[in-house]
Amino acid sequence: MRRAVCPGSFDPITYGHLDIIGRASKLYDVVHVAVLVNRNKQGMFSIDERIALIEETTAQYGNVVVESHLGLLVDYCRERDIPAIIKGLRAVSDFDYELQMAQMNHGLTGVETLFVPTSPTWSFLSSTLVKEVASYGGDVSHLLPETAHRRLVERIAERRAQQ
Ligand code: PNS
Repeated sequence: MRRAVCPGSFDPITYGHLDIIGRASKLYDVVHVAVLVNRNKQGMFSIDERIALIEETTAQYGNVVVESHLGLLVDYCRERDIPAIIKGLRAVSDFDYELQMAQMNHGLTGVETLFVPTSPTWSFLSSTLVKEVASYGGDVSHLLPETAHRRLVERIAERRAQQ
């Protein structure tokens, strides 16, 4: 079995993530989508909510496994015998930090990082920007799967009602 992992925060999943996961699923027998838990960052969605959205939207590929992980990405890979990390590169601005992480991860355990150029359609897209635009009432429905968009609009409304 040839395995790879697509790691990230996925708060929430967007079409940019799906672009990379879908393309990775054609190259590998099994693609693990690892939702990394960042204890210092309060997300808009819980880890379970993110996983549910990813599972729903990646079911179409048939070879995607979705899991959460608290700790180092290299440990996730080592525990599951995953030799490759797949990362999307949107622009040159992504490159510096991604290169640093790839070199650190390789130095730690020898795991390789493969960069996939994001489709130009989604090169401007990030979950952070989607949340910001949506929170001010902007239409982001074309940027993320329908269920994720619905949940995002609901969550923003819930938060507003609590204020
Ligand atoms: O979607 P994001 O937030 O850009 O993803 C970044 C992520 C989660 C892939 C990265 O922060 C990560 O790998 N975190 C896990 C902890 C870890 O291994 N840190 C050392 C990186 S060299």
